[in-house]
Amino acid sequence: MSSRFDVAVIGAGAAGMMAAAVAGQRGLRVVLVDHAARLAEKIRISGGGRCNFTNIGATPANFLSQNPHFCRSALAAYTPRDFIDLVEKHGIRWHEKHRGQLFCDESSESIIAMLKRECDEGGVAWRMPCSVHEIARDGDAFLLRTSQGNISARQLVMASGGMAIPQLGATDFALGIARQFGLKVVEPRPALVPLTFDAQAWQPFAALSGVALEVIVKNDAGSAAPAGAAATAAAAGAGSGKRRNPRAGAGRQQAEFLEDLLFTHRGLSGPAILQISSFWDPGEAIHVDLAPHQDLERDLLAAKSGSRQQLGTVLAGLWPKRLADRWLANIDGMGEDAGALRLADVPDKALRRLAGQIHCWTLLPDGTAGYKKAEVMRGGVDTRGLNQKTMEAATVPGLYFVGEAVDVTGWLGGYNFQWAWASGVACGRAL
Ligand code: FDA
Repeated sequence: MSSRFDVAVIGAGAAGMMAAAVAGQRGLRVVLVDHAARLAEKIRISGGGRCNFTNIGATPANFLSQNPHFCRSALAAYTPRDFIDLVEKHGIRWHEKHRGQLFCDESSESIIAMLKRECDEGGVAWRMPCSVHEIARDGDAFLLRTSQGNISARQLVMASGGMAIPQLGATDFALGIARQFGLKVVEPRPALVPLTFDAQAWQPFAALSGVALEVIVKNDAGSAAPAGAAATAAAAGAGSGKRRNPRAGAGRQQAEFLEDLLFTHRGLSGPAILQISSFWDPGEAIHVDLAPHQDLERDLLAAKSGSRQQLGTVLAGLWPKRLADRWLANIDGMGEDAGALRLADVPDKALRRLAGQIHCWTLLPDGTAGYKKAEVMRGGVDTRGLNQKTMEAATVPGLYFVGEAVDVTGWLGGYNFQWAWASGVACGRAL
C-alpha cells in the first residue's frame, strides 16, 4: 500500500517549501519529504541568523551557470519585490543592510514560520524526518520507498539542495536522481568558500589572521577569458565602489569584486574571497589590489619629496599596522627593517615596484576550505536538460529540479535565496 499524492517534493528547504506551498494552494495534494529532524536549517543559520532573504538588485547577471540565460524566465516571473510582498503579508519587518541585501529585523525563524504557514494554507502533508531509500517509475507515477512507507506521486520535485555544510544534512541526492533518470550534471564544487594556500608558503601571513581590509579581487581566467575582458576591468578603474559584472569566457568566467578581504590561519576569506571563489578553478591565480582607492605609485612619489616620514608609517596610514609591517618584511623583499627606511631615501624604482605589488598581489590558491565551510555548491543538474519556465526535465515528464541542486549559483548577498524562491514558484505554478 502506498500513500497517493499529486506531487511529492523531496527537500523541505527554501525551494521545496516554496514549490509545495504554491502547488498546494492551487489545489494539488502535495507531500513534503525531508530527512532532517529540524526544518530548514540553512534558512535558520543564514545571514548570521537574520536571513539575507533576497537582493533587490538581483538580475541574471548575478548568477553563474554553464547556461547563463536559463535563470532569466523564473527570475522575471518571481522578483525580489514579489518575495518582499510575501514577507510583508506575514508582518515580518526587514531592512536593507548593504548593496541591496535585505535581512529580517528579528530572526530567520520568521521566514521559516512564514513558509510553514504558506504550506499549511495549501494543505501540504509532511513526512519528516523521513529517509528516501529509492525512487522508481511506476507507470506514469513515481514510487518513493521511504522510512515512513511508500509514496506514489504523479509528479516529483527534487529540492534537496546542494552539498554545502554536510554536517547539517546536505547531500548530493538530487544529483544521483538526475543521473538515474539520464540527466546530465555539471561537475559540482564548493562555492562562496574560503581559499587555502600551501601551509609553508602561507606561514608568514598566518600571523595576520583576523586582519580585514577592502580590496579588489580578480580571478585569472587566463587565455579562456574573452578578448578585452581584462582590459575592460582595468579601464573601469579602482575605487568606483561597484562590483564589475563577470564576463562569460569559453567555459570559464572572469570576474572582479570590490569587497572586504579577511586573513585567516589557512588562507583568505571574507566577502571578496567568497565571491571570487565561485569563479575560481584549481590551478588558477587570483589577483588582489590591496589599495583599491588609491594610485599608490603617484602618491608615494609625490609624498617622497622632502618627506621625513618612514615607509612603515606611510603604509600604516593605508592599512592595519600588522599588515604594513608584514608586507614590508615579507613581500617586498626589502628586509625586516624596511619599515624604518625614510621615504625620501627609497629609490623611485623601488617605490614603483612596491606600488605595483600592492595593486596586484598575485596568489596561487592550492584549494578551497571545502563543502564544510562553503555557503553553496556550484554546478549541479545541467539546465540544458530542463525547461526554463517550469524546471521540468525535458526527457522525463513529471520530474522537476529546483533550487541549489540546479546549475544556477548566485553571488553572495541574497541571490541564492532569490533563486530558490523563483525556481520553486516557477515549478509550483507549473505542476
Ligand atoms: P536547502 O539546502 O535550503 O534545502 C534542502 C533540503 O533538502 C534540506 O532541508 C535537507 O535536509 C533536505 N535533504 C537533503 N538531502 C536529502 C535527502 N537525501 N533526503 C531527504 N531530504 C534531503 N543564501 C542567501 O541567499 N542568503 C543568505 O543569507 C545565505 N546564507 C547562508 C549561510 C550559510 C552558512 C549557508 C550554508 C548558506 C547560505 N545561503 C544563503 C545559501 C542558501 O542557504 C541556499 O542557497 C538555499 O538554502 C538553497 O535552497 P534549497 O531549497 O535549494 O536547499
